[in-house]
Amino acid sequence: MADDPSDADTPADAASGTPDDSAPDTPEDAAPDTPDDSATGTANDWDPDAYDRDTGFVHEYGGSVVDLLDPSPGERVLDLGCGTGHLTAAIADAVGESGSVVGVDQSAEMVERARATYHDQRFEVADAREYAPADERFDAVFSNAALHWIPGADQPSVAERVRELLVPGGRFVAEMGGAGNVATVVDATLAELRARGYDATNPWHFPTVGEHAAVLESAGFEVRLARLFDRPTELEGGAEGLARWLDVFGDSLFADLDDGEKADVVDAVEARVRDELFDPDAGEEGVWTADYRRLRFVAVRE
Ligand code: BEZ
Repeated sequence: MADDPSDADTPADAASGTPDDSAPDTPEDAAPDTPDDSATGTANDWDPDAYDRDTGFVHEYGGSVVDLLDPSPGERVLDLGCGTGHLTAAIADAVGESGSVVGVDQSAEMVERARATYHDQRFEVADAREYAPADERFDAVFSNAALHWIPGADQPSVAERVRELLVPGGRFVAEMGGAGNVATVVDATLAELRARGYDATNPWHFPTVGEHAAVLESAGFEVRLARLFDRPTELEGGAEGLARWLDVFGDSLFADLDDGEKADVVDAVEARVRDELFDPDAGEEGVWTADYRRLRFVAVRE
C-alpha cells in the first residue's frame, strides 16, 4: 500500500522553517500541551499483536522515511522508537554486515516482540531522552512515528541527546505527527470527554515546522529539510477501524474510564466524526480515514 507521501503535493506543504498557516486549529491552540506528568512521556499500554494487526500502515508508510534516510553499507544507525522492529530490519538490510543498527523503544513488550521476530538484530529498552550507550556513536539517527509521544517540554532533551550520539556531520532523519495531526479525531475525543466532565488534554506533541526546527537548531543541528504535509490514512479494520485505532493508541485518553464508559465514548466519537471520516461505500463494510499530518525532517549535526 502506501503511496510515497513525500510525493504529496498539498496546500499544507511547507518549506523549512515556514510554519503552515493553513493548519486547522488543534486542541493545542486552545489548551497548553500538557501530557501526563510521568517521566516517560505519554503513557500507553502497548500490545504488539494489536499494533502489528491494526496499524501495519505505520511501518508501511515508514518505508519512505527509510528511503529519505538512504542508509549506506557500513553505516552505524540508531532507530529511536523502533516499535516491533520492522523498519530497523529494513535499515539493517541496507547497511549490511559491515554496518550496524540498534533499535530502541521505551516499551519492553515491543522490544520483546522485535527481538523474537528479528533474532539477529540488536534491540534495547530505553528512553530517547536518556539513551547513552557507552563509547558508541552513530552515523545516523532515524525515527518514525515516535517523537510525538514525547512531551514538547522534553523535545530539547531528545534533540540534545541525539546530537551527542551522532558523529560530527551525522544526520537525524525522522517523521512524526505534525501540527493538526489527527485533529478531527483528537478534537472529537476531547470534546466528548469534557462533555462527560473529564479534564482531557491532547496527550501528543504535534509541532509546527517552525517550532521543531527551532528545537533542532538550538541543539546544534543544521536543518536541511523540514516539511509538513497531509497524509490521510485509511485505518485497518473496516467499520471497526476508528475504534481499533483508539484502542491501540488512546490509552492515556481513557485512563480514568472503566471499560463500559470507554466503549460509550468511542461510540460517541464515531458518531461525531462519521460524516467527515467514514466512507460507508468503501471496502466490504466501509473505511475510516484519519486526518494524519506528518512532520518530516533531515537535520545534520554541526
Ligand atoms: C501518529 O503516528 O501520528 C499517531 C499515532 C498515534 C497517536 C497519535 C498520532
